[in-house]
Amino acid sequence: MRKLIFLTLINLVSIPHIGKCESQLNKAYECSAGVPGIPGTNGQHGPAGRDGRDGEPGPKGEPGEPGERGPPGHPGKVGPPGIPGPILSKPGEILAFHVGLDASSPPPNQPIQFKKVFYNEQNIYNTETGKLKAPVDGIYFLIYQISVYSKSVHLTLQHNDKIVQYMKHETASFITKQASGSSILKLKRNDEVWLQTVDNNNGLYSNDKNDSTFSGFLIL
Ligand SMILES: *[C@@H]1O[C@H](CO)[C@@H](O)[C@H](O)[C@H]1NC(C)=O
Repeated sequence: MRKLIFLTLINLVSIPHIGKCESQLNKAYECSAGVPGIPGTNGQHGPAGRDGRDGEPGPKGEPGEPGERGPPGHPGKVGPPGIPGPILSKPGEILAFHVGLDASSPPPNQPIQFKKVFYNEQNIYNTETGKLKAPVDGIYFLIYQISVYSKSVHLTLQHNDKIVQYMKHETASFITKQASGSSILKLKRNDEVWLQTVDNNNGLYSNDKNDSTFSGFLIL
């Protein structure tokens, strides 16, 4: 048996037919070249690839349709107060003031401040400055009546820096007397009119019975 295998091998090696291999593939056992392998099966799919890089931005799109109207916003903050407009009387209301002295012997040589207000709806008389400020151009009627007690009163009615009317009531008695004066003035808007004591003669009297008053109104 061994002998047979040995002889077969010798026989195979000694036969010089290697060059004929290609034409004798159907007789593979006679050829020293290898037998073709069995075709492989298809490979499995590999793992999914990674995402690619971002592309270039696309071209600008067409403008969209206008959106629907939104709900109303919250109310804004209250703004600063406006500049006061010109003072005007309401229909049926006259531009007028009527004020009284609230303390005897007002400070001399300066506008007398009549701080008791009987009527001053349009605030044309300023109780702090003691002056009427004309709210409009026009003809005004001014009148005062004062009580004089224990001391003389020298009084001027002033239109801006000019004396319109001067009144001198001399007394040293402790009997109350009265003095009065009136005038018609043509005033420009913002002109000022006031009463003022002169020198040191400021014997005006006031008590709770409403002595000493100053008043005026726009005639037209
Ligand atoms: C003085 O006038 C004011 C305002 O009209 C009034 O309230 C007051 O009662 C008057 N005084 C007296 C004593 O009547």
